[in-house]
Amino acid sequence: MTTALITGATAGIGAAFARRLARDGHHLVLVARDKERLREHATALHDRHGVEVSVLAADLAADKGISAVEKRLSEREHPVDLLVNNAGFGNKGRYLDVPVEDELTMLKVHCEAVLRLTSAAVAGMRERGRGGVVNVASVAAFVPRGTYGASKAWVVQFTQGAAKDLAGSGVRLMALCPGFVRTEFHERAGMDSGNIPGWMWLDADAVAGAAMKDLARGRSLCIPDARYKALMGAARLLPRELLSKASTTTGRRYGPR
Ligand SMILES: NC(=O)c1ccc[n+]([C@@H]2O[C@H](COP(=O)([O-])OP(=O)(O)OC[C@H]3O[C@@H](n4cnc5c(N)ncnc54)[C@H](OP(=O)(O)O)[C@@H]3O)[C@@H](O)[C@H]2O)c1
Repeated sequence: MTTALITGATAGIGAAFARRLARDGHHLVLVARDKERLREHATALHDRHGVEVSVLAADLAADKGISAVEKRLSEREHPVDLLVNNAGFGNKGRYLDVPVEDELTMLKVHCEAVLRLTSAAVAGMRERGRGGVVNVASVAAFVPRGTYGASKAWVVQFTQGAAKDLAGSGVRLMALCPGFVRTEFHERAGMDSGNIPGWMWLDADAVAGAAMKDLARGRSLCIPDARYKALMGAARLLPRELLSKASTTTGRRYGPR
């Protein structure tokens, strides 16, 4: 039996990974901030799938939280075979509307935590000659979209670079780049997602399923869903100015403060 550690495992895409991996028979370590919610999810997954599920309450915007998860990932006697760095959030507002501290918090969760947790996990995986890391980025990585898009672009570049460096070691790294997914993300960020056309929405379970398939195929980048693959292909051909305009307006209406 293998063990998977998922950050942001209590909602949206992280919860979908937890369901998928439990169904496939993996033991789980669930990470998020809300202890009560973590316990509820752990009990439900254990009761339904019979796998061992432990919880680790940690805030990945704080050094203490990141260190606690690094420590768990470094335990050689209870190895983690698959890490899903999924925890993330959006900020409410455009550049200069968002306080710099909130932008720095985003970089801490989306970049520093991902770097530190990947490194903690991969060290043991390389020694064992097997393991996997899925770093959840976004299609926002490929378009100009403020600090959010920039942080996700970092995730893609970092993950693909590390995957190349570790080629042949038995350790697989993959960046996952979904489009709009129905989760708590937009509501938490105070975003009005009403202008996003219905066809652009993806299902979190389908996203997790596509990711696991592409990881098994040895891909270092996964864009779930053919529609988004086509969109991202087209985006490469669009003039930067036009791309910038389309990307800053789509799904970026904010509710009242
Ligand atoms: N939804 C989309 O349209 C979409 C599209 C592309 C990429 N993504 C990316 O997918 C990932 C998951 O997003 P989602 O849509 O599933 O969001 P979500 O439904 O809001 O879930 C976010 C999860 O992350 C946890 N979390 C948030 N901040 C955290 C922190 N500081 N420390 C530890 N855990 C934290 C939350 O639990 P607690 O609040 O209890 O900590 C929750 O479990 C993110 O990286 C996001 O950028 C989302």
